[in-house]
Amino acid sequence: MHILPSEGRPVGILGTGSHTPSRVLTNFDLEKMVDTSDEWIRTRTGIVERRIADPGSATSDLALPAAQAALEQAGMAAGDLDLIIVATVTPDMLFPCTAAVLQRRLGAAAAAFDILVGCTGFIYGMAVAREMVVSRAYERVLVVGSETLSKITDWEDRSTCVLFGDAAGAVVVGPVPEGRGILGYSLGNDGTNADALKIPAGGSHMPATEETVAKRLHYLTMNGPEVFKFAVRAMAESSEEVVRRAGLAMKDVDLVIPHQANLRIIDAAAKRFNIPYERFVHNLERYGNTSAASIPLALDETVRQRRVSSGDLILLSSFGAGLSWGSLILRW
Ligand code: ACO
Repeated sequence: MHILPSEGRPVGILGTGSHTPSRVLTNFDLEKMVDTSDEWIRTRTGIVERRIADPGSATSDLALPAAQAALEQAGMAAGDLDLIIVATVTPDMLFPCTAAVLQRRLGAAAAAFDILVGCTGFIYGMAVAREMVVSRAYERVLVVGSETLSKITDWEDRSTCVLFGDAAGAVVVGPVPEGRGILGYSLGNDGTNADALKIPAGGSHMPATEETVAKRLHYLTMNGPEVFKFAVRAMAESSEEVVRRAGLAMKDVDLVIPHQANLRIIDAAAKRFNIPYERFVHNLERYGNTSAASIPLALDETVRQRRVSSGDLILLSSFGAGLSWGSLILRW
């Protein structure tokens, strides 16, 4: 785990944006597809509906409007960007990276790369962007979390298909006034649990064959209860540590934007943090788990609803494949 104390040039968020596909898939729709019920999904996860991309849409198709909205809010043009980072587990292709596709579509001339750290990818991307700007290597970095999880979901597996959705969120990271911006972050990973959440085939370990396709090994698999236990502990410990190391207390936090995986995970974190539940942002009811897109999507909605005021202390916290975790605290 790496914790950063609040030092160096102040770096923060200059603009936010998001995009979700228009097609809504409700729990009642899922009742017709697999052996499940609206009641089970709502009580076990909190999810009511999710958005699904058109069959012809790729991850970059969602990323593009989210990035354009973030640039507009920041008052910037694509040509102003020095670096583009896309966090995703559903790249358009194995390579080139989706950030390269997005760069071309934005008309930017920036360096570009992807981060593949599951749902935690956006926090990792924010940490990298922060360091790039602190070091003065780059001035303006676009960080995008974009996913078309519907493309890797096994729509015959009720234990996973009810959980996920498609979305994109984006932020522009750059220098901010003194006293504002990212105050610290914590990143971590426990590779001993790497098998708990994965797509078994399609990589160099198990290249695609007729057999891997027949065995449905190109879809996401997950040990739900294992990930659940890990999630509560990882989010709580890394959040508490990052807040403490920034010289703050949990009660100082104005808004918590946790990864939107399961309302019971958010409830458990809220109890442990001992701060009012109203300070926790959740929109998973409408979008399900959108992996790397979930935090920037929730952040953008919160900003556009004017729930964030200048000077607010905001805690972002996530967990996911790896098994990875990451928390980041910033002064808006
Ligand atoms: N509908 C009805 N019944 C179901 C469904 C469903 N959709 N899915 C599972 N069940 C059944 C199971 O078969 C099981 O039945 P059994 O007791 O007869 O065997 C029962 O419900 C309980 O199943 P559990 O898996 O123990 O249910 P649990 O309460 O743990 O909830 C869940 C499952 C929602 C997946 C939970 O474990 C969870 O949220 N885990 C964390 C997942 C997560 O956050 N992943 C994030 C990372 S994702 C990423 O990085 C891309």
